This record gives sequence, structure tokens and C-alpha cells, in this order.
Amino acid sequence: MPPKLKRPRIVAIANQKGGVGKTTTAINLAAALAVGGKKVLLVDIDPQGNASTGLGIDAANRKGGTYGLLAGEANLAESTLPTAVENLTIAPSVADLIGVDLEFGGTERREFMLRDALREQAQADVVFIDCPPGLGLLTLNGLVAADAVLIPLQAEFFALEGISQIMRTVDMVKRNLNPALEVEGIVLTMTDRRNNLSEQVTNDVRAFFKQLVFDTVIPRNIRVTEAPSHGIPVLLYDFRSVGAQSYLALAAEFMKRARAKKVLT
Ligand SMILES: Nc1ncnc2c1ncn2[C@@H]1O[C@H](COP(=O)(O)OP(=O)(O)O)[C@@H](O)[C@H]1O
Ligand SMILES: [Mg+2]
Repeated sequence: MPPKLKRPRIVAIANQKGGVGKTTTAINLAAALAVGGKKVLLVDIDPQGNASTGLGIDAANRKGGTYGLLAGEANLAESTLPTAVENLTIAPSVADLIGVDLEFGGTERREFMLRDALREQAQADVVFIDCPPGLGLLTLNGLVAADAVLIPLQAEFFALEGISQIMRTVDMVKRNLNPALEVEGIVLTMTDRRNNLSEQVTNDVRAFFKQLVFDTVIPRNIRVTEAPSHGIPVLLYDFRSVGAQSYLALAAEFMKRARAKKVLT
């Protein structure tokens, strides 16, 4: 028998709002930690599959993907593929995920499908779950499977309204489904220092959420947008870009916080 593995730190990347940088953060934070030597698994549960495509996984190679995992048709090892980044593997998304709400909405362990599939099996130091937009059954599965939730927040006018909604959902999940769920932190994305509104929102979010907000911000950067079409993280696409360097800084801060909480070494 293989030795008993220590359980990984499982972090869901969630925000009900689309287009705030969840997938970009999932890919690039995962890649930055992997480049730093951590074994990282990215679990893509968004039916759109942007994280899978962005890491160069052809739709033809995905087999059952995370649908098979949720449905209990495959185990994690069977659902996981390597990426162009050493130490970074992915459980890719498949289109069948679109039907999960309807198909499993009436089943008894509907919120625990991903948790059941990940907890005993993940052979990694860190697992990131890239959640879809919305607060449906897939996102709930992500929050129930996770130890903590990382919330990317785009620095724009409605940011504060959006964040109160995801915070309420996290509280609901803690009360009813996953009492141990923590908020890993809030990451401000697509910031723009030349834009007064972006600065104002950044200041407001920091004033309200204080140390929950990562010091590192991810500025708007064209290289971050270009990298996915090449199937690689921005770190491999343009190491010197502001985007790549920001995600490296975020990974360093993520590790510093995790070590302080003694959840990673
Ligand atoms: N730092 C950034 N600079 C420029 N564009 C970004 C940045 N982060 C994300 N984007 C772009 O914003 C869009 C939405 O990002 P994405 O990560 O897909 O959000 P979500 O997963 O929350 O829907 C994508 O087109 C992405 O390339
Ligand atoms: Mg996404």
C-alpha cells in the first residue's frame, strides 16, 4: 500500500460575478506555486472550461473530466492530466457539467459530490477549484469541498455589492454544509492606477475588509489576456510582464499567509 498522503490545502476560487478574474487567477496562481516547487492540482468545474483551454487541454483529451468525478464515474487519478507546467496538473472541465444542477439537484449528497471525490484522493500540496459564475450547485460543491475560498474582485463600481453577496453565501455554507470553511482572502484584479474609480474602490475594499485583502494587486495587463490563447500561463508566456510578476508576488504572499496559519509548509 502506498504511504498515507497528507491532505492538500484545498482552495476554491469563487465569486458569483463573471469576468472578475477567477479563471485567470486560478491558472496563474496555480502556475506560480508550481514553478516554486509545490505540487498543484487545478480542478475546473466551470462548464465553460476556460481554465482547461487556457492550460492547453484539448477538448478531445478530456474524457469524463470533472463531470465524471462529480458523478462518481471516475476517480481523481483517471480525471487528471499533466500541463505544460511541471508540478501542475488539471482535472479539466467538460460540457456535461452544464447539466449538473438538473441532474443531481434532487440527490441526497448533491453538495458533497466534489468533496467526496477530492478529500481522500488528491496527491498535491495545493488544490485550486475554479468555480463558475453564479451560486448554483457547482459553486456550492466547490465551497463545500474547500478549506478556504479565495475571492477575486475586480476594482470597479459594483465591487462592494458583489462581494457582500459572495460573503453571505460563504456564511450560509459555513452554517449548513462546511463549518470549517475559511476566507483565504480577497484579491483585487484588473486594477488601474491611472483610473480614479479603480483607486477609490481599492481603498474602500481595504478599509472595509482590512487584512482579508491581499497586499498584492493584479494590474490590468495585456500579456495576461494573451497567454490563454497559447495554452500557457502568463509566467511561461512572458515572464517579465507585470502580469507574470504580479502573480509571482501573489503566490509568495499566499504562501506567507498559509505558513503563518500553519496550513502549508
Ligand atoms: N490582470 C488582467 N489584465 C487584463 N485582462 C485580464 C486580467 N485578468 C483577467 N483579464 C481578462 O478578463 C476577462 C475575464 O477574466 P476571467 O479570469 O475569465 O474571469 P472569470 O473567470 O471570473 O469569469 C478575460 O478576458 C481575461 O483575459
Ligand atoms: Mg472563469
